[in-house]
Amino acid sequence: MSTFLEHQNWRYATKKFDTTKKITTEDLTVLKEAIRLSTSSYGLQPYKIIIVENPELRAQLQPAAWGQSQIVEASHLIIFANETNIGDEAIDSFLKNVSETRNTPVEALSGYGDFMKSKISTLPAEEKNIWTAKQTYLALGNLMNAAAELKIDVTPMEGFLPAQVNEILGLDELGLNACLIATLGYRHAEDATQHYKKVRKSNEDLFITL
Ligand SMILES: Cc1cc2nc3c(=O)[nH]c(=O)nc-3n(C[C@H](O)[C@H](O)[C@H](O)COP(=O)(O)O)c2cc1C
Repeated sequence: MSTFLEHQNWRYATKKFDTTKKITTEDLTVLKEAIRLSTSSYGLQPYKIIIVENPELRAQLQPAAWGQSQIVEASHLIIFANETNIGDEAIDSFLKNVSETRNTPVEALSGYGDFMKSKISTLPAEEKNIWTAKQTYLALGNLMNAAAELKIDVTPMEGFLPAQVNEILGLDELGLNACLIATLGYRHAEDATQHYKKVRKSNEDLFITL
């Protein structure tokens, strides 16, 4: 079996973390780089990644996340926060980055910039919010795959109240919205979930070949 698939079979959404085990700085650096290198539509990465290290903040967040224990017991807590009102500024900043990174005059990118602006800036606020939130799922997927390779457990989480998390972390003022949480660390020996067989659709049910 490919190593990638072995890792996919090894991983599971961890329910109980071992509080005595912490992710090393080196591994955290790899995981952050996996997030940073994630693909996104147009390459805009319209989100911020918030690593909550403060234990008091994590305790405050737990009730907002349906009381889930992973919020306080995992080694690390990451919040994916999408930009709520992406506009021309974000696109101009991206173009500046392209220009500097690839040593290309920014004027040469103006056509692409105008195209992006015509597609994105004109979207109704709600659609923009949905579109930027979608991009975070790609970063989550990359994080999860990298973590599995390092034998680090991850629980992807949507089980929380974004409005409360936004309030606790002051995200509204930053034009951000908490749309995904990932808790990371090492499975507890007593987490029975690790022994459950994976439940997935059959190939026949999942794939349509035309
Ligand atoms: C976007 C997303 C949100 C999820 N939210 C939660 C959650 O809030 N709490 C939790 O314990 N598991 C959560 N899960 C875990 C899923 O229930 C789990 O991934 C799924 O049942 C498949 O099992 P496996 O990941 O263990 O293979 C979430 C998964 C995804 C992808």
